[in-house]
Amino acid sequence: MLAVDRLAPETRQGSPLEPLTRDGLVFGCDYNPEQWDRAVWDEDMRLMRQAGVSLVAVNIFGWSWINPAPGVWSFDELDEVMDLAHAHGIRVNLGTATASPAPWVTTRHPEILPVAEDGTRRFPGGRQAYCPSSPVFRAYAAEVSRRVVERYADHPALAMWHVSNELGCHNSLCYCDASAAAFRGWLEARYGSIAALNTAWGTSFWSQRYGAWDEILPPMTALSLRNPAQLLDFQRFSSDQQLELYRAEAEAIRRHSTAPVTTNFMVTAHIRTLDYWSWAGEMDVIANDHYLDRRLADPTAELSFAADLTRGLAGGTPWLLMETSTGAVNWQPHNLAKGEGELLRNVVSHVARGADGICFFQWRASAQGAEKFHSALLPHAGTDTAQWRTVLEVGETLRRLQPVAGSQVHSDAALLFDWESWWSLENEGRPSEDVRYLDQVHAAHAALTGSGVSVDVVSAHDELTGYRLVVVPALHLVRDEDAARIARFVEDGGTAVITFASGIVDEDDRVRLGGYPGAFRDLLGIVSEEFAPLGPGQTVTLDDGGTASVWAERLRVTDAEVDARFLDGPAAGLPARTRRAVGEGSAWYLATLPSAADYRALLSRAAQDAGIPTTPVPLGVDVIRRVSADRAFLFVINHTTDTVEIAARGRDAISGEAIAGPVRVAGGAVRIIEEAS
Ligand code: GLA
Repeated sequence: MLAVDRLAPETRQGSPLEPLTRDGLVFGCDYNPEQWDRAVWDEDMRLMRQAGVSLVAVNIFGWSWINPAPGVWSFDELDEVMDLAHAHGIRVNLGTATASPAPWVTTRHPEILPVAEDGTRRFPGGRQAYCPSSPVFRAYAAEVSRRVVERYADHPALAMWHVSNELGCHNSLCYCDASAAAFRGWLEARYGSIAALNTAWGTSFWSQRYGAWDEILPPMTALSLRNPAQLLDFQRFSSDQQLELYRAEAEAIRRHSTAPVTTNFMVTAHIRTLDYWSWAGEMDVIANDHYLDRRLADPTAELSFAADLTRGLAGGTPWLLMETSTGAVNWQPHNLAKGEGELLRNVVSHVARGADGICFFQWRASAQGAEKFHSALLPHAGTDTAQWRTVLEVGETLRRLQPVAGSQVHSDAALLFDWESWWSLENEGRPSEDVRYLDQVHAAHAALTGSGVSVDVVSAHDELTGYRLVVVPALHLVRDEDAARIARFVEDGGTAVITFASGIVDEDDRVRLGGYPGAFRDLLGIVSEEFAPLGPGQTVTLDDGGTASVWAERLRVTDAEVDARFLDGPAAGLPARTRRAVGEGSAWYLATLPSAADYRALLSRAAQDAGIPTTPVPLGVDVIRRVSADRAFLFVINHTTDTVEIAARGRDAISGEAIAGPVRVAGGAVRIIEEAS
């Protein structure tokens, strides 16, 4: 039996989701009535009401529906869908229709088609076939969204605005002439002079010194490794271009409407091109799309991380899962169905980590089109199916979880996450391709959550006051002020755990000289003289009996204790783990990747060091608490096949059953307990 300490309640106010959660957490879906005959729409409404659907995302890919030819506007069907939704008490998350241009647009203006890094053009026939920097595309998109906003700003069904769709999902990196021109403008604004750019990019290397702005291209496919600083700036620029698309529409919407504006983020393992820390402040509601990625070793652990990161983007406030799937997707090599209870576990995992609503792609499984084999709320086989019955159960669960709305997760531990580090660490010419940023972040996150430590995912630029433990995995690129903030956090009594591949380069991707990890050398009291990465599949042993993989390096301590040494491998005899006491605080360094069990043991120790109460949870069981001013909810998600017992007292939030002692959670099940105060 496990005891889980109750955390201090906090209040959270003014969520734009609050009006949508009065009768239950949001239960929503993409709704694409334009794919179906009119006769189907009435059945859609009836079944949505039966399931308790409260929010539909409409008109996401509506451009050719509402604007089928130049100057032709056809809103009759969308009017009817809006009215139908309203008549059935369903709110609308209205798309601006700019996600994918209608065919006439690209026929008329082939110059807006995106160009890949090898200079080849991408054609229409799929979606998102436009260059994000194209002034021509931008002008057409502004016109479409303006028409939509003007028409529906006062419609009673309107709940929020959904700008475009998954901006940058396919077209974030475009190398066409318009992109090149915009890139030069962005560089000029950043550096002011060619001389400053040459310095920042280190262009003396390989005779790359530029004499004029028009000599600069996006980093197109080259014969050799490319300039990493140029790659990094192109990544920054490309994220900014997509944000500009959002911003232009959001600003125009806000001139006509007070409804919240958002777009759906892709905080997932396979999209890395958008720095959402710089986007988050511009969203009225943080919304994420998340699908289980079966290509990963542990898709569920990735879900937990993504949900914690989404909560971080929302600054701890409630967020919305804008898309997920009831079952299989259709874009992975093997599109696996969900197992018994898996959908509910996924849904409750997002809610436990701060979501106030769960929406699905999509309402009715398509009969045609590229996603006809993607699952939906209403499957091809109809309502006499286990899938539909599960959907009804999900709807009912979200309804009963209404009291959870607005409550917050409280964490004493933070994990630093940084898109720029992801980019710079994985750009060309790196020490080992086995050092992948997300792997390192996921390993640290899983070690924390596996130790029963609730963790907030925060940006490298965030204030750290209020946390007791900060974990810094592979923070490759660090600005001086961010390194200084971490050092101050430790000096003020905090515990930091910093891993290899952190603090290596500055914001221009320039190596910090004098020994690794340059930005954290003094804080950690170490100097690392040489990287010594491990070969594929190679493991090493440490003198504390632990095993490790991926990385080693040759370091010496200058002012730290050696906590463990490498016994073998390329750094045999040298420190593998160090700890430096700094007043009440301490700074740990990990020079290798411990096995999952060793990592959990280490972060448990660090958490105890930091004064965080840890209660080991059985492996594969998530225990998370959300609290509001006067209520607390304990979420237990049992991903294992065994029954577990967790200490709790209160009332089952779904069944209403009183709970006086440990709660039993069957294998594969979830329990949500409203705790007695
Ligand atoms: C994304 C898109 C949707 C749909 C789903 C399929 O999330 O936004 O339009 O393509 O993927 O999983």
